[in-house]
Amino acid sequence: MTDQAPAPYVGKPRVLSGVQPSGDLHLGNYLGALVKFARLQHEMQTFIFVADLHAITAWQDPAKLKNQVREIAAAYLATGLDPKVATIFAQSAVPAHAELAWVFNCVARLGWLDRMTQFKDKAGKHKERESVGLYTYPVLQAADILIYKATHVPVGEDQRQHLELTRDIAAKFNHDFEAPGFFPLPEALIQGPGARIMSLRDGAVKMSKSDPSDNSRINLTDDADTISQKIRKARTDADVLPEKLEDLADRAEAQNLIGVYAALAGRTPQDVLTEFAGQGFGAFKPKLADLAVSVMGPIGGEMRRLLSDPAEIDRILGAGAERAREVAAPTLAEVKRIVGYWAG
Ligand code: TYM
Repeated sequence: MTDQAPAPYVGKPRVLSGVQPSGDLHLGNYLGALVKFARLQHEMQTFIFVADLHAITAWQDPAKLKNQVREIAAAYLATGLDPKVATIFAQSAVPAHAELAWVFNCVARLGWLDRMTQFKDKAGKHKERESVGLYTYPVLQAADILIYKATHVPVGEDQRQHLELTRDIAAKFNHDFEAPGFFPLPEALIQGPGARIMSLRDGAVKMSKSDPSDNSRINLTDDADTISQKIRKARTDADVLPEKLEDLADRAEAQNLIGVYAALAGRTPQDVLTEFAGQGFGAFKPKLADLAVSVMGPIGGEMRRLLSDPAEIDRILGAGAERAREVAAPTLAEVKRIVGYWAG
């Protein structure tokens, strides 16, 4: 073992991210993640997958899972991912993720996983009834990223801690196996007003697939009337909008709607406030609804069109999986050799 810091990684910059096929995609998924995927594919080699291994950490109906995967793939395509540019695939089609996750289970420490807030949030008071998979979920996530030696990971704010764990696992692997710089220490791409979109019913909790109230979120497949109605019903306060962002500090719901507007329009929240300062929500909400319908409406329509031809989606996922397996294979072979496996 060496006491030196791991050598810097010198390979290609690469983007990797994924979404679980465990419920309807919503505005938070779109602004926190999907919109960035489409942008980044033109800047770096990009791998985007559907996390069906992760999805079964909570019960999924086996008769529906395959279609749920196709729905996420359709959302990727409808939000601008181009299968000729980016590699789009299902996690279960690349066994190297699970093989590397086993090695990482032996690198990560129990104490590290005990600190993961997402497990605590999801498990609640009854953690002994949760699957072991839910507990080691972030270790599989580290394998998803590092099997491609990805350097950049576009995600929402809720994934920050998982990305820190990924860096810790990469650094410990490089150190323990005296393989300096073998794995990069990937960077989370989180910035921007879309990184943490809150529920439309409660500005203190994030917009989520698992919220029992459908009015708490805008789904990617909602039609124009539903989107407008949900925004009209969104919880707000009676004050007018201020000029400065600092003055929104104690107004979680107002801050969220300004953030949603800014993220949808590709502007800064301050810029949006400057335009709407002095106006109330009676004036602001219809403008936000128009903007949301103009951005989200076409996505839902395109998803429905793509889903009417599941064979074409399967063809795209099949070709993507082939490419992903090719890129993952040499990393896994190297890992087996480094670890000293008989089959390495
Ligand atoms: P998932 O399926 O829960 O969410 C997909 C993406 O959407 C982001 N997101 C949000 N962003 C802003 N505001 C919100 N309210 C909001 N809700 C969700 C998430 O941050 C995420 O980027 N663990 C991942 C899936 C995964 C993964 C990976 C991601 C598995 N392996 C490797 C990156 C790299 C997850 O649960 O995503």
